[in-house]
Amino acid sequence: MAQKKFGSAKSTGRKLDVIEVYLSMYQKALANFSFQTIYVDGFAGSGEVPLAEHKDGLFVDEDVKTVIAGSADRALKVDPPFARYIFIDKRKECIDALKAKFKDSPNADRVIHLIGDANAHIQKLCTSEQWRSQRGVVLLDPFGSQVNWQTIEAIEAIEAIAATKALDLWYLFPAGSGVFRQISKDGTVDQTHEASITRLFGTDAWKNAFFQPSKQGDFFGGPVTQDKVVTPESAALFMIKRLKSVFKGGVMDEMIPLGKHAYPSYYLLFAWGNASTKAKALANRLSKAAVKATDRKHGRIV
Ligand SMILES: C[S@@+](CC[C@H](N)C(=O)[O-])C[C@H]1O[C@@H](n2cnc3c(N)ncnc32)[C@H](O)[C@@H]1O
Repeated sequence: MAQKKFGSAKSTGRKLDVIEVYLSMYQKALANFSFQTIYVDGFAGSGEVPLAEHKDGLFVDEDVKTVIAGSADRALKVDPPFARYIFIDKRKECIDALKAKFKDSPNADRVIHLIGDANAHIQKLCTSEQWRSQRGVVLLDPFGSQVNWQTIEAIEAIEAIAATKALDLWYLFPAGSGVFRQISKDGTVDQTHEASITRLFGTDAWKNAFFQPSKQGDFFGGPVTQDKVVTPESAALFMIKRLKSVFKGGVMDEMIPLGKHAYPSYYLLFAWGNASTKAKALANRLSKAAVKATDRKHGRIV
């Protein structure tokens, strides 16, 4: 199997269901317009997701694997299909698995496979494509803190997702695993984690937001230290604020906590770049409907 085990049926299943429902509604709605549509899967995986947890929490034999359809599989089955699909993964084994799995798909000839870093490929794509006649959806579904802010906000001559004003973004933001857990209880962060958090947010303003001066230090007259006040939720809210600063269409206020055992390792976030009245209303309506449709199936994780 090309993909390592990750996620749980409840959490990963919910994430993929939200995206599948959104893509399906998106394509139906866009069929009424003359745009070419594109689906970009930055962390495409192998087309299937071998879950790390036992099915329904029950003990099953170690060899019994629960596998669910991955994002690429679900996107390829959307009706009507996207005009183009871009599947990116750093691992050649995953791209080979995608090619083999979908070689007989009726939409196989619409797919471009790219091996390598999602950041580099997406920045190049955003810069080189003509966006006036295209609309699309980008999924960023990393295992950890691999998405650089530069892939979201343009810098100098390099375009990025928000700047195209044509792309919607679903982002699995690692608020718990990539931010909260990288900061120690005593308010210290090692240099590697500090750099990684700054890369995620594209600013070091998080340092002011996630700490406060320690009362204890003051009390004993010792050096002023700081306390960690960030939570996974406040880290996700900080990212929503960052997204709102660059996505001219809007950002979904609702954020979907995902993770095992009710711990929000991630939040699924949604933003869209097109600021036209019609596009704003459509993205708002479709994203809310996708979340609601899957609420009924999975219930809330909070
Ligand atoms: C959570 S999995 C994606 C699952 C996929 N969306 C699905 O539903 O099947 C993350 C994937 O990202 C890939 N990956 C890790 N770092 C990457 C990077 N910098 N650029 C592109 N892909 C990367 C891994 O090889 C892995 O397949």
